[in-house]
Amino acid sequence: MFIGESVLLAAFIFAWALARRHKGKHHHYVMLGAFLVDILAFKPLMIARAFDVYGPYPWSGTGISSHFFLDIAVVVFGVSSVVLGFKFRVKKAGKMFLPPKGRSHKWLGYLFIALWVATFALGIRVFVWAHLG
Ligand code: HEM
Repeated sequence: MFIGESVLLAAFIFAWALARRHKGKHHHYVMLGAFLVDILAFKPLMIARAFDVYGPYPWSGTGISSHFFLDIAVVVFGVSSVVLGFKFRVKKAGKMFLPPKGRSHKWLGYLFIALWVATFALGIRVFVWAHLG
């Protein structure tokens, strides 16, 4: 799980670098791919594992709750970024751009990345507590 999420972090950074270089089309494939893998594969696996190992919610004493609730906010920001990306993107000569009115996509995107990293850090805290503590 930790290795998988580290690979996703690298994918998010790569996708962000593509956006900075105005490679909107490639940016959107990488972001969307990494986000979908995260919410459709890793997050369900993590929730299943929490129930499996620590029993029913609230997983007292594990510190998982803060990690879990922050992640719900992350998913909301992620879905919003994707929706705004599709809403405001402009396709011209096989390239993809974001006009000035698409600024909200960028801000929500940055918020998503920052909170995703914070959630990852909280996840590492749980990992350290469970395996090394
Ligand atoms: C979770 C998903 C996504 C996140 C977190 C995200 C994040 C970002 C961020 C932070 C930027 C601004 C980079 C800068 O400082 O210039 C950006 C730019 C952009 N995004 Fe996304 N994005 C996501 C998904 C998408 C999707 C699905 C699309 C298209 C449907 C898209 C289209 C674009 C475009 C066209 C730009 C402008 C690139 C340019 O400057 O030419 N993004 N995105």
